[in-house]
Amino acid sequence: MKRLLAMCVALGLFCGLALSVAPSAEAKTVIKIAGMKPEGEPETVGMHKFGEYLEKLSNGKYEVKVYPNSQLGKEDSYIDQTRRGTIQMCATGTQMSKFHPAMAMLETPMLYEDLDHAHRAMQGDTFKLITDGFTEKSGMRTMNVFPLGFRHFYTKKPVKSIDDIKGLKMRVPNIPLYTNFAKEAGISGQPMPFAEVMTSIESGAIDGGDSPLSDIASTGVYEYAPEVTKTGHILVLHSLFINDKFYKSLPEQDRKWFDQAAAQAAEDVWKLMVQADEDAAKKITAGKGHISEPTPELKKYMTEAGERSWTLFTDPKSKQHVPNAKEILESAKRYAK
Ligand code: G3P
Repeated sequence: MKRLLAMCVALGLFCGLALSVAPSAEAKTVIKIAGMKPEGEPETVGMHKFGEYLEKLSNGKYEVKVYPNSQLGKEDSYIDQTRRGTIQMCATGTQMSKFHPAMAMLETPMLYEDLDHAHRAMQGDTFKLITDGFTEKSGMRTMNVFPLGFRHFYTKKPVKSIDDIKGLKMRVPNIPLYTNFAKEAGISGQPMPFAEVMTSIESGAIDGGDSPLSDIASTGVYEYAPEVTKTGHILVLHSLFINDKFYKSLPEQDRKWFDQAAAQAAEDVWKLMVQADEDAAKKITAGKGHISEPTPELKKYMTEAGERSWTLFTDPKSKQHVPNAKEILESAKRYAK
């Protein structure tokens, strides 16, 4: 009898212990996702949308915590955190070309006629050809792709002719794609983080830079360099990335939720892009900014510079050589109207 009593006590203790350590059926898994842009910009909207969709599809199994505006550090830092699995996901763009040069081809200068052309190419083979092999090299997986807008110049003085652009000291992101394009366009590219742009304009270290309208509006850089020339030379395309080991550890059904949430979020951003550009343009012109179209000569000059810059990827001697660069370019062209 004594032995039976002892067994019951032991069983009771075991069950109690098991109940206290096992996660409850309702326990949420927190997904941390880092990005660089402020609230309200397309990248941050995309991260929030992903969170909403994932929480809904998984019936609350996953809770997505969004850290925009470099809250978890600058891009290199949060990319590294995603690779190591400290956080699960992040949003960024051609910075990923340091692992896989083809990722820079997402933003190949002067490749797309318009947003719809890029959208078709990204929904089709061009995106697959660019991202093929990325996961093996980086330990991260590309979940989707969405636009942040075409890049336009912002300068202190108006850019009316080709001569106005030659020799300008312009901030560029520190990515070979950008430094190379500036060289081809006869611009003196000054690689620096965006955070340094305003003080560098004030000190005269640079004459301006290039960004999508949403960045120009949200940062207020048009107050320092009010002349915006709509050259639209590069379409910024960002993606949500996930730690591959984490993704592979998920049950199959959960992976489908992640895929679906990312795809739906990206589609939402493609849809809102035109409106986002219009809103940004209104904000710029309501402030001290002035937006103008480039002359046909300047547009042609930029197109030719853009096309020359493609040798960065096609030349086998280039450090950024992409073995399937020609296939990528031909694929993108097939999606034109
Ligand atoms: O994809 C590259 C792009 O995000 C870098 O541009 O101007 O935001 O530093 P920026």
